[in-house]
Amino acid sequence: MKAVVLAGGFGTRLRPLSCTRPKLLFPICNKPLLDWTLERLAKSGTNEVVLAVNYMAETITQHYGDSTHGMRLFHSREEKPLGTAGPIKKAEELIGHEEPFLVLNGDILTDFDYSKLMKKHTEKRATATIALRRVKDPSRYGIAELTEKNRVIRFVEKPPREKAPSNLANAGIYVLEPEIFDYIPNGRPVSIERDVFPKLANERKLYGYDFEGLWTDIGKPEDYLKANKLLFDAQIKKSQVGKSVRVKSGVEIKDSTVIGDRVFIGEKSKVGPYATIGERTILGKKVHVQNSIIFPGVVISNFTSIKGAIIGEEAAIGSHVKIGDGCMIGDHAVIRDNVVLSQGVTVCPSRKVSENVLTPRCLM
Ligand code: GTP
Repeated sequence: MKAVVLAGGFGTRLRPLSCTRPKLLFPICNKPLLDWTLERLAKSGTNEVVLAVNYMAETITQHYGDSTHGMRLFHSREEKPLGTAGPIKKAEELIGHEEPFLVLNGDILTDFDYSKLMKKHTEKRATATIALRRVKDPSRYGIAELTEKNRVIRFVEKPPREKAPSNLANAGIYVLEPEIFDYIPNGRPVSIERDVFPKLANERKLYGYDFEGLWTDIGKPEDYLKANKLLFDAQIKKSQVGKSVRVKSGVEIKDSTVIGDRVFIGEKSKVGPYATIGERTILGKKVHVQNSIIFPGVVISNFTSIKGAIIGEEAAIGSHVKIGDGCMIGDHAVIRDNVVLSQGVTVCPSRKVSENVLTPRCLM
């Protein structure tokens, strides 16, 4: 099986953390999202993967090289962003015309067995087959209306809630026939959701299947935190502690916690549940980290509490600090002693913060 992974988006909704790394390299339980995806592709029987890259292409290309998990990797690099269909056309030569292939939105975390979708696709002789998920809020997704035989009659991108034809959402996982290349113009941005799927639905060539199990995208900060949580619940229930971790007396490490290599945890600190601590991080005395993601190399001083937040690489957090729900602290930022960032506060990389911020705001 061949697969294309769309890996070139800017990840604007995850700024400022996406200013310094592509979204697909964001760690989920201390491993880049793209590693989880590549692992799953290998398990589903994929042997060749095209990574369609644009934003911070070099970082992805250098990180993965030309093979991983027994699969060959090809990097299809865009000069300018081509949207969600343009990169497929650009990779036409690499994909070839021999067989149907898989396309994945790279910002999805799932435990889906991709080979099942391939099987369904070949049974129906469709041009394209979409994996679908039942969702609560259809207005955030591309929504499909199906016949009893799973043919998509209508595909509408982000319909208003009251006009949604169903709650079956595009899961960002497709199987496409090489015929698809004729539907995508060359060299310009094209959206598969807006320009290609509605046309295929009109021509009765689009099918869809819903599935259950682990699935979420990491588009927004709350989705990113949720992805970590879902993975803990599905796969990593007990805590995992890396190599050369030093833990002082009275420390409580709760379930659903992943602690990277060479972390130091000071006396009477509490870590978890749902905490990911990146490698080389230092936690002082009586620190409390819960439902949060701490990137590598962060220093968190004594008596500080971090709940529901994301802390960027090598940030320095002072003592007696409180950081609350939905806060995102950029790489190398400095939060001084006694500061309270109560909710939804975003701090840009390398910014120093000395004052309390009690309402959602971006500190540039
Ligand atoms: P936002 O800017 O926050 O909307 O994120 P995004 O740029 O990643 O956009 P979106 O979430 O809609 O992208 C869905 C998937 O398509 C992600 O895996 C992106 O990496 C990928 N993607 C989006 N635009 C492009 C593009 O122009 N080129 C390539 N190769 N991939 C893209």
